Amino acid sequence: MKKNISCGELAAFWAVLVLSFGAVYQARADAGLAEQIAKADMGYGEYLAGECMTCHRNQSAGIPNINGLDAEKFVTIMRAYRSKELENKVMQMMAGRLNDEQIISLAAYFSSLSN
Ligand code: HEC
Repeated sequence: MKKNISCGELAAFWAVLVLSFGAVYQARADAGLAEQIAKADMGYGEYLAGECMTCHRNQSAGIPNINGLDAEKFVTIMRAYRSKELENKVMQMMAGRLNDEQIISLAAYFSSLSN
């Protein structure tokens, strides 16, 4: 009897495809990270930062100051929240809504501030 491809197998196939594509894409993105940060749109970063400042301007509640954070470190941290490697529900949600271009613009902007 002909074996039908199950939904699970199809899903697994797509997961592998998407993950391998993601890995290649990530590797290429990392190679040029410093360059991408240098070319980032600060104005866009400043615009996006408005939402972050509702929390991050207020250090009294144990929220870290992110002004002046090294840009590459900033990108690494945000990607780690996005992939849920770093545990914090709020930041996972915030980072989950941002694409790489937006994270890099934010990194360029916040790293330009004095802390
Ligand atoms: C609702 C409050 C809130 C908002 C909004 C928010 N953050 Fe956060 N953020 C936090 C908290 C709380 C932590 C500390 C989490 C932890 O302990 O892991 C944090 C941690 C961080 C860190 C890690 C700092 C470090 O030194 O480890 C970065 C970077 C960061 N946030 C960036 C952002 C950016 C960029 C935005 C806007 C897109 C944003 N946050 C919006 C609450 C918030």
